Amino acid sequence: MLFDFNLIKSVYEQMPEKVNKARKTLGKPLTLSEKILYSHLSAEEKGDKFKRAEDYVNFAPDRVAMQDATAQMALLQFMNAGKSKVAVPSTVHCDHLIQASVGADEDLKEALLQNNEVYNFLQSVSDKYGIGFWKPGAGIIHQVVLENYAFPGGMMIGTDSHTVNAGGLGMVAIGVGGADAVDVMAGMAWELKMPKLIGVKLTGKLSGWASSKDVILKVAGILTVKGGTGAIVEYFGEGADALSCTGKATICNMGAEIGATTSIFAYDKNMSTYLRHTGREQIADLADDIMPHLRADEEIALNPEKYYDELIEINLSELEPFINGPFTPDLAHPLSEFAKAVKTNDYPQELEVGLIGSCTNSSYEDLSRAASLAKQARDKNLKVKAEFIVTPGSEMVRYTTERDGILSEFENIGGVIMSNACGPCIGQWNRHTEDPTRKNSIITSFNRNFAKRNDGNPNTHGFVASPELVTAMAIAGDLTFNPMTDTLINEDGVEVKLDEPKGYELPPHGFDVVDAGYLAPQADGSGVKVEVSKMSDRLQLLAPFKEWDGEDYLGLNLLIKAKGKCTTDHISMAGPWLRFRGHLDNISNNMLIGAINYFNDESNLIFNPISEKYEEVPATARAIKAKGQASFVVGDENYGEGSSREHAAMEPRHLGIKVVLVRSFARIHETNLKKQGVLGLTFADKADYDKIQEKDKVDVNGLTNFTPGVPLELVVTHEDGSKDSIVANHSYNKVQIDWFKAGSALNLIRKQNAK
Ligand code: F3S
Repeated sequence: MLFDFNLIKSVYEQMPEKVNKARKTLGKPLTLSEKILYSHLSAEEKGDKFKRAEDYVNFAPDRVAMQDATAQMALLQFMNAGKSKVAVPSTVHCDHLIQASVGADEDLKEALLQNNEVYNFLQSVSDKYGIGFWKPGAGIIHQVVLENYAFPGGMMIGTDSHTVNAGGLGMVAIGVGGADAVDVMAGMAWELKMPKLIGVKLTGKLSGWASSKDVILKVAGILTVKGGTGAIVEYFGEGADALSCTGKATICNMGAEIGATTSIFAYDKNMSTYLRHTGREQIADLADDIMPHLRADEEIALNPEKYYDELIEINLSELEPFINGPFTPDLAHPLSEFAKAVKTNDYPQELEVGLIGSCTNSSYEDLSRAASLAKQARDKNLKVKAEFIVTPGSEMVRYTTERDGILSEFENIGGVIMSNACGPCIGQWNRHTEDPTRKNSIITSFNRNFAKRNDGNPNTHGFVASPELVTAMAIAGDLTFNPMTDTLINEDGVEVKLDEPKGYELPPHGFDVVDAGYLAPQADGSGVKVEVSKMSDRLQLLAPFKEWDGEDYLGLNLLIKAKGKCTTDHISMAGPWLRFRGHLDNISNNMLIGAINYFNDESNLIFNPISEKYEEVPATARAIKAKGQASFVVGDENYGEGSSREHAAMEPRHLGIKVVLVRSFARIHETNLKKQGVLGLTFADKADYDKIQEKDKVDVNGLTNFTPGVPLELVVTHEDGSKDSIVANHSYNKVQIDWFKAGSALNLIRKQNAK
């Protein structure tokens, strides 16, 4: 048994009382999201009524999942928390680092060679601290979580934005940065702004070519990539209950594409059946017993506009398949209008590659429906025109679909089965193309289709659709093909039509697997040694940051005054730098290289006060630090927006930046700076941003009396010796001031654990 039965049992035992209490507190019927959120308040919350979209709330999630790219820094930090074991059940999944090139076996061998050091590190840390480890090739984090760990009414966080996939099994599952995962694994509360609620009422029933994927493709078209921001999207209605559990997961998965905090479906018969098919009868029995608590109160569906902040209604019986793209997942084209859109917008009509699978769409249902089309291609003597690639989501799905002859249907039409991993979905795709400068089209059953996402080629037009539609389009090799109305000419010159896809919601002979790829941690990991070579360029053990020395900051050098937008990508770029996610010193060489220098409008070219020359940002920060001095950064509005990546806060701390002073912060980045011991301040008067000059030095006064709600005074000394006094606000509470004094939140945790 991989899941923690006692934990889930205790969640279910407490849930009725907690839900009843929340209903009383709020004085109204409860949505499912509210039931789960209010039954996961952390111990320090007193059960107040929280305002949606306004109040920050401390939660106690039930579990944590991490993928291999983000787990490296999360675990390096966790090792400094002074804990011998994780406080909640946690898992690591090796899925992002495997490149899809020629096929599963060869690619996996190559990945083991290339990433051996990282895998060994992740495995040994997992073993030591009681974390479940899913080996390379075991599958994609979200599919594995759905098959093994997700449970209705639970709450989890994961260091990947598609963690939200687990909403398909009725869980509040949220994607976070590594620092948040460290907090929860170390037993701290996890803070989130109480989300807004968007209700999506589904009526009718899917049929024919329409699939669950088309529901979210339509919703993405309605809400756009920003429409779900700060909200939980809750699906309800008889149409929702009619969808398969894995279909619900597909819909929740792509909630990330509309910016939603998460998405969720209520517990129902299909979820119960899925739990039973995946070896979790005990959970299904418990959940069946408290079913009303795992669904919204009945009054909600009767009067949804009263209880949701926004309401959308979709009739599944009338739903048409959609194709979304290119370059953005919210550009939704109904299939019947797509051919026209291809011609009008001059999208490359020839389809070069169709790709199915990924964490979004690699269920048994998805693959069996797609295989029914592959079989027709062979039976009807059709030559498949495009390349066709399959990435199964887990070894259990791969093994079962191989056993049931599904994978061979794909291979029979020339399909290549890649590893059970992210592969092309995350750009880990060695695409074979003779001319990358040619405008070209691909279609996937994945979730994201931003430029360069899949093959790194800006000329590739990526479209997103259901696996069955991707398969049909790959057979035709033509983006204007509509399988619902059009015919194809087969190898005998005969006109043939594809029948509607057919498949199985769950394997008729059950799931099976020989080696799922799971390694359980040792019961007592205290003897496990975690080896990290000092010579490694990919991994580096973290030394705790220094405590605050009790003095005001004096004479900090301006490093850069960033102009305009400065996101976490500007502060810590991704792309080739992904390789160094586990090596703080090496990845710090990308610090702020994307930010625009206010004084010359250039990126990565700033005045170095030590050499008195214009140099790169990381090199300048290192030069200042080497002289025993420190620096500060100035930024504009919404500084640090984008991702919750903790590297954007750790790198400045590592390179000697003591203060980041901005017009305003993106909140998650501000919290990350606080956690890493960098002083995050805002101009009390935003016009003071203009007072900062290129060769300024700054003193920060009042740190010895650092108090919540009391601004700090900054004295800026300009090159000519003149001075300006600036009032800087801060949003530190008492605990956060303790983080600052300890040098970082982790230092404080370690201190507390040592007591
Ligand atoms: Fe992996 Fe793509 Fe999902 S990167 S986790 S398969 S979104």
